[in-house]
Amino acid sequence: MARTRSVYRCGECGGEGPQWTGRCGGCGAWNTIVEERSRESASSSSGLLPSATSRAVPIADVESEGWEPRPVGIGELDRVLGGGLVAGSVTLLGGEPGIGKSTLLLQALSALAGNGARCLLACAEESAQQVRMRAARLGALRSNLWLVADTDLSAILAHAATVAPDVLVVDSIQTVFDPDLASAPGSVGQVRECAHRLVRAAKDAGRATILVGHVTKDGALAGPRVLEHIVDTVLSFEGERHHALRLLRAVKHRFGPTSELGLFEMTDDGLTGVPDPGRLFLSDRQAHAPGSVVVPTLEGHRPLVVELQALVAKSPLATPRRSAQGLDSGRLAMVSAVLEERVGVSLAGADVYALAVGGVRVVEPGADLALALALVSSVTGCALPPDLVACGEIGLCGELRQVSQTGRRLAEAARLGFGRAVVPASAPEPPAGFEVLRASTLVEALARAGLSLEAKPVGFPRAVSA
Ligand code: TYD
Ligand code: MG
Repeated sequence: MARTRSVYRCGECGGEGPQWTGRCGGCGAWNTIVEERSRESASSSSGLLPSATSRAVPIADVESEGWEPRPVGIGELDRVLGGGLVAGSVTLLGGEPGIGKSTLLLQALSALAGNGARCLLACAEESAQQVRMRAARLGALRSNLWLVADTDLSAILAHAATVAPDVLVVDSIQTVFDPDLASAPGSVGQVRECAHRLVRAAKDAGRATILVGHVTKDGALAGPRVLEHIVDTVLSFEGERHHALRLLRAVKHRFGPTSELGLFEMTDDGLTGVPDPGRLFLSDRQAHAPGSVVVPTLEGHRPLVVELQALVAKSPLATPRRSAQGLDSGRLAMVSAVLEERVGVSLAGADVYALAVGGVRVVEPGADLALALALVSSVTGCALPPDLVACGEIGLCGELRQVSQTGRRLAEAARLGFGRAVVPASAPEPPAGFEVLRASTLVEALARAGLSLEAKPVGFPRAVSA
């Protein structure tokens, strides 16, 4: 017999307790505890004996057929998924509102349906008419693509049982709800329980399921982190709102690597894959301008050749500005401090602006050297040679350290037409025909890049020689 019990759950961390408290004992957040009523079956407590429905077998005897990924048909998405969607798997696609999650999934379902898969899109955020209009624009009106606009999870599961799709998309997990639960739609309890039911249904029916999840401003999946534990794959869709570039990453993936990166561009006709991002990032580059340096960075396993720009300008402010866009502000502060203390470049009294061009975020330490060169290039007014790239991490003593996979980075730079790189002294041999300028300190690196601190500074006074 089913009976109802109340639990008190934290909206931040998902931790539960037997009674309401003002502060969560788990994460310390205030006023986040809400009551949840859950039904539990009386028979569930008696399950101490092994269930007769499962069987232990030698691992090699387990059936592996049917678990090959089914390609979606969108190259950049398949790359991140490690080949495609696995039957019975549950994928969570997270991203800020408006970043393009619904667009990506509609295009994915259209491609799947075009390849003969039966697809069902359960839309809990928009009306069926709105989705149809968008689908018409994206050329996604396929006979195999079914649509239901509903927020009631039981109804969605009933439709899924009737349509029997190979792939089900629920957009979004925060807007569907289970009326049997007392808590409000979007609350931790609802999201958790709905996700659990969808996971169970996905496994039972062997149906690939994709859940859309909104993320909060600071990038965390709204509501419970528990969602990340119960799904097989967590994808994160990111990008700057004012740029067309979108990055798709696997944060967790039970069926493949998490190091792949998918790149898309948002256009008037939906998302298009960007298989060769190098040209996209460098197309508008002013190679002879001071303050511009190209860095071969690595996103997962994918090398991206990105232009970094710095502008050091005389400041009218008592506390000069330090602005980092697409770069880590902590690393900008550190590189600035090393330049001041170890090299003798004075940035006092100057506003410092640094950015990674093209809407990409470059936060890895491997971009330190390029950032330092860009700053000095701006201070001295000397441009770097147009065929030069730089990669290396800077230590607090002003020394250069090697970064991972330098070979792959330089190979990508060579492919895009660059011929030389400033690298740490310990870096491995470059690809054939590519020249490396080795340096063990930042001072040496500046000299090898042809940046002289004696050069006449432009605009504001001071580059002090070392
Ligand atoms: P959407 O997929 O609705 O975002 P999400 O589901 O993540 O909230 O896409 C939102 C934005 O994408 C919207 O502001 C308009 C833009 N967009 C295009 O630029 N081109 C298109 O073809 C489509 C469908 C959307
Ligand atoms: Mg949406």
